Amino acid sequence: MEICIVGTGYVGLVTGACLAEIGHRVVCVDDDREKIAILNQGELPIFEPGLDGLVTRNRQEGRLSFTTDLKEGIGAATVIFICVGTPPLEDGDADLSAVEQVVRRIGELSSAYKLVVEKSTVPVQTGMWIEKTLKVYKGDQDARFDVASNPEFLREGSAIEDFLHPDRIVVGVEHSLAERLLRELYEPILNRAFTCPIHRRCGEAGPIPFLVTDIKSAELIKHASNSFLATKISFINSVADLCELVGADVELVAKGMGLDRRIGRAFLNAGLGFGGFCFPKDLQAFVKIAEKCGYDFRLLQEVDRINQSRISQAIRKLKDQLWILKDKVIGIWGLAFKPDTDDVRYSPALELSKRLLAEGVAVKAYDPKAMEKARRQLPSLVCCRDPYEAASGADALVVATEWKEFAGLDLTRVKTLMRRPVLLDGRNLFDRQKIKAMGFEYLGMGR
Ligand code: UGA
Repeated sequence: MEICIVGTGYVGLVTGACLAEIGHRVVCVDDDREKIAILNQGELPIFEPGLDGLVTRNRQEGRLSFTTDLKEGIGAATVIFICVGTPPLEDGDADLSAVEQVVRRIGELSSAYKLVVEKSTVPVQTGMWIEKTLKVYKGDQDARFDVASNPEFLREGSAIEDFLHPDRIVVGVEHSLAERLLRELYEPILNRAFTCPIHRRCGEAGPIPFLVTDIKSAELIKHASNSFLATKISFINSVADLCELVGADVELVAKGMGLDRRIGRAFLNAGLGFGGFCFPKDLQAFVKIAEKCGYDFRLLQEVDRINQSRISQAIRKLKDQLWILKDKVIGIWGLAFKPDTDDVRYSPALELSKRLLAEGVAVKAYDPKAMEKARRQLPSLVCCRDPYEAASGADALVVATEWKEFAGLDLTRVKTLMRRPVLLDGRNLFDRQKIKAMGFEYLGMGR
């Protein structure tokens, strides 16, 4: 099929590369000239495991191309995916101006049937507005449009795996042609009829659910899923606080809860809380759209409040150990909002660094991938060559992102490098007993 992807951020690039990988011809469009130039030079503007190889191969084999020209992009395409950003406004609402812009242009430039699919995370009722906008801006008699919602469930760091081996594919449609086109588009994934670039087990797993709903329900599935996962995290973080008060271990509590299949162990990791460009903004946007529609989503407001208090709580723990923070040296391991990404947007690790700097702390940070992006946001951050340098001379060390490589470091060396061996394990990465036995003053999260 001929596909156009508008927006080459995480979602657009991964979607474009994966749809090309399963055999479609994909044109990715972005009005950011610099980004398109980078992509046309064979490089990537972001780090995402496996994406590099996928983009290179599909470009070379002629199934994937990049342009700044929307007219060229939508020319031959039957299906157009909207993957532009929907950043938060001051009041938490989603800024849909980029979506509106793109839809207007699609209306003006199209001269045949187009299925316009919203893939960016948008509040419920956006599909309805897209449909109205296409009608208003339709520029050609022969243009006809269908609108669909096809939310993405891609985690940064494992986005390709999530795209090619999804738990489910959700499509919100109002007409049978739209459903048929999307079923055809995803058929190789649904039937596992492609050679998986990651692993071979694809053929062995069971069928992938293809859930067809109305557009509004599909839109809600996305916001509700992210908000539910965020709720799990804030829930376990509250339990972690209680564990500290009574002397229990949240890791064991999560394990015991997770063994119940109705609950599951996933997203019950206590720590510095959730960040990234999805959960915090989606949660707020969900609360906002609910409010606009007449529902006061207090449960989610509390989830957000609990999450925001995680950083203050970490700082309090450091103060309890170090007394005065001003002029102390604190090493930070990890700056990305989670491992396997260089993304620092709404990163708890970066927020913690910022707050410590504001307290007069000399922060020495190390992250395997995110240092460049972190430095752009926080120029006063001292970025170190390796985790040992970040620990050197420190009064305390904080594990802020649970990169696997941190677990394998020589902690005896780390301890001798530090001025005082205080370790705040903000992601419960380490075995508490072992670390204590090594002579560290260990502070976990809920342990
Ligand atoms: C999230 C969802 O998991 C995806 O399904 C969704 O498609 C995506 O948002 C999106 O809306 O685009 P992502 O933000 O990449 O994906 O990352 P997650 O793995 O969900 O983690 C989010 C945050 O929660 C991270 O800061 C992570 O450290 C934190 N987290 C996660 C916890 O604090 N505890 C946990 O147990 C799990």
